[in-house]
Amino acid sequence: MEIPILPIFKLLCVTLVFSTFLRSSLSESELCHPQDKKVLLQIKKAFNDPHDLASWDPETDCCSWYGVECHKITNRVWSLEINDGELEGPIPPQVGDLPYLEFLQFKLCPNLTGPIPPAIAKLKRLRFLRISWTGISGQIPDFIGNLKNLQSISLSSNRLTGPIPSSIGSLKKLTGLLLDRNKLTGPIPHSFGKFEGKEFYLYLNRNQLSGKIPASLRETDFSYIDLSRNMLEGDASVLFGSKKSTWVLDISRNLFEFDFSNVKFAEQLTNLDISHNKIYGSLPKGLTKLSMAVFNVSYNKLCGQIPQGGDLQTRFDASAYVGNRCLCDPPLPSCNLIMEA
Ligand SMILES: *[C@@H]1O[C@H](CO)[C@@H](O)[C@H](O)[C@H]1NC(C)=O
Ligand SMILES: *[C@@H]1O[C@H](CO)[C@@H](O)[C@H](O)[C@H]1NC(C)=O
Repeated sequence: MEIPILPIFKLLCVTLVFSTFLRSSLSESELCHPQDKKVLLQIKKAFNDPHDLASWDPETDCCSWYGVECHKITNRVWSLEINDGELEGPIPPQVGDLPYLEFLQFKLCPNLTGPIPPAIAKLKRLRFLRISWTGISGQIPDFIGNLKNLQSISLSSNRLTGPIPSSIGSLKKLTGLLLDRNKLTGPIPHSFGKFEGKEFYLYLNRNQLSGKIPASLRETDFSYIDLSRNMLEGDASVLFGSKKSTWVLDISRNLFEFDFSNVKFAEQLTNLDISHNKIYGSLPKGLTKLSMAVFNVSYNKLCGQIPQGGDLQTRFDASAYVGNRCLCDPPLPSCNLIMEA
């Protein structure tokens, strides 16, 4: 027997179209909470009705607007995400009046300016705060440490200045902190030794951070850590260790000065860049056991034989080792030659 698929399909389509029509014409079936809708429209107005927010039409359900997501059960707005924005001016304080917000993102909005608004302190449910590649400036506010549900803070590539608030260290659920590419100054807070999250990302590269790495970081286990291009000094050996599960460790282009001879490495380390510091001592034999994609120890004060084996000669050329006090053996000239000369 033939199954009459086509007629059934047609009927389904008609029903679907009709029911969508029915839903959009009935205001009581709008999912958006009226309070959230009011606030979103205030935000749109504060941004001067930008083209980006053209879909934010008061006649339609706010849960279907660009960048807005409502919770499936409560229908409250839980996510606001605006990327590639032509938004101009400051982040409107009304953002703080979306009490169910868990995810807030402004990304690639070069003309978004002004500070991180204090109103964000009201968003107690916030789990993800991402404001990156924008023009926001001023300091990272202290209150950020009171948003206890934060799992990820990304404030990369803005114009933020001043110190990193130590209150961030009290965020127990945090597993990602990306503050790279700003103009932050001062030291890495001591409180960062309290970070416990698994698979932790710590990106502080391309700032103007100074001072020593706090000893408390010995207990931490970051998976990805990038401190490159700052003015950090002293001993960075607390970041190393065979018990850590670090994949990426980049401390290049700082003023670090410590003995590298006895440093131990995490088994899974695949990116290691310590170039452009004042690190002394010799290269540990343990380096030959690693399988690395990035490796660079150039422009330090290292000395002695380059351990032979593993990836050290096959994957990396002399440029990974140059500019040291007296490193020798392949891929640099043999130590015997240097002693004879
Ligand atoms: C930002 O503002 C400048 C100057 O008003 C303008 O030329 C540029 O197109 C704006 N950028 C975006 C992405 O809207
Ligand atoms: C190591 O770093 C130096 C200096 O930044 C760079 O010139 C060189 O190409 C790098 N080499 C490798 C193998 O990454």
